[in-house]
Amino acid sequence: MKNKVRLYDKTFKPFITNAEINEAIDRVAACINDDFRGCTDTPVLLCVLNGSIMFTAELMKRLDFNCEIVSMKLSSYVGTRSTGKVREVMGMTGSVDGKRVIIVEDIVDTGNTIEDLTRIVREKGATEVRICTLLLKPDVYKKAIKLDYVAKEIPNDFIVGFGLDYDEIGRNFKDIYVLDPEPDYHVTEHKMNYYILFGPPGAGKGTQASAMVEKYNLCHISTGALLRKEIAAGSELGLKAKSLIDAGQLVPDEVVEGMIENEFNTVKGVSGFLLDGFPRTIAQAEALDKMLDARGEGVTSVVSIMIPDEMIKERIQHRAAIEGRADDASEETINTRIRTYHEKTEPLVDFYRKAGKYVEIDGTGTIEEVRAKIFSTMDQL
Ligand code: AP5
Ligand code: MG
Repeated sequence: MKNKVRLYDKTFKPFITNAEINEAIDRVAACINDDFRGCTDTPVLLCVLNGSIMFTAELMKRLDFNCEIVSMKLSSYVGTRSTGKVREVMGMTGSVDGKRVIIVEDIVDTGNTIEDLTRIVREKGATEVRICTLLLKPDVYKKAIKLDYVAKEIPNDFIVGFGLDYDEIGRNFKDIYVLDPEPDYHVTEHKMNYYILFGPPGAGKGTQASAMVEKYNLCHISTGALLRKEIAAGSELGLKAKSLIDAGQLVPDEVVEGMIENEFNTVKGVSGFLLDGFPRTIAQAEALDKMLDARGEGVTSVVSIMIPDEMIKERIQHRAAIEGRADDASEETINTRIRTYHEKTEPLVDFYRKAGKYVEIDGTGTIEEVRAKIFSTMDQL
């Protein structure tokens, strides 16, 4: 069992080992076998997806009477009933009509799901409904419905593993972990990576980003692209940013910092972030350090793609004809962007060199050559 696991923004510590889980399942399976020994019908085990998939498989292996398996999922949405919340069955894989049913749940807390399930299964013609759950939170269970088979009781804590998830991940752990209220951010497992893709305008940051995010499961955040989206949407922020961008100047630090923090807070399911076009000033770099520090994280590495100024112009003029970006249109704007880069952004090279996080790649080769260099550099980080 791992010492700690980190899933997205949360840290979990060991709670129930796989051996303990198996012992609990042995006990509950023995009770079910006693109750159904010699039965002449074929009872149905109803696996409630996705959480009880592992438990159902383990339980079924231990049963020594003939039984069928049917699986189903409950969807919940806000409906028109007075209760406000209505649940509906999605894709029951077989019939329970005229059958004795054992509902197999991973966890029962308030009992709302069990209440709905019992009613639905009865409506679908089951002659008897029993409930078997791997875990029960007795402190919060408020329903009168009898729980026939409970493998293990636990306190009202947030847990993951053995089928149970945190926002769909963590189900694959064979042991069960509980939320650590005092997270130790020094754990390395599942820590997010924060790569900065650095370089002058036209260096190929956007071009290389797509392959990098795919290979390393990253979320690409291009502040330039986010700002262009705001402009296209005609938002207040977009209107403010447009004149500055079209003139080749930077938008205020706090605007981009807010956008970045928003992305950090909303994006899930990735191993990290690839920041393209941020930070662009020392003040932004310091703000980023603060933001990450507050999350117990830090910049992983700065991957810098370098090309000479003449090549910047060639590439941007070539792109102007293809993409029609307003800030690519005039030579004057391109020159201002290059100047702004040297004045305000280039000092970051030293900033990250001193921090020991800076790696530079020659960006003058073909797109494929540059990509290969980036990959081999990142693989060694
Ligand atoms: P942003 O969108 O970030 O523009 P930029 O930094 O000027 O960078 P580009 O997107 O122009 O270049 P790129 O490196 O992505 O090159 P690409 O891959 O497209 O920012 C725009 C504006 O938004 C800023 O000026 C500023 O006003 C504002 N802004 C953004 N972030 C900000 C921040 N943090 N703070 C304040 N303001 C901010 O490649 C260029 C062309 O070259 C393409 O046509 C490509 O096909 C070609 N190419 C790429 N690689 C190669 C290669 N190896 N060989 C041949 N051609 C290649
Ligand atoms: Mg770009």
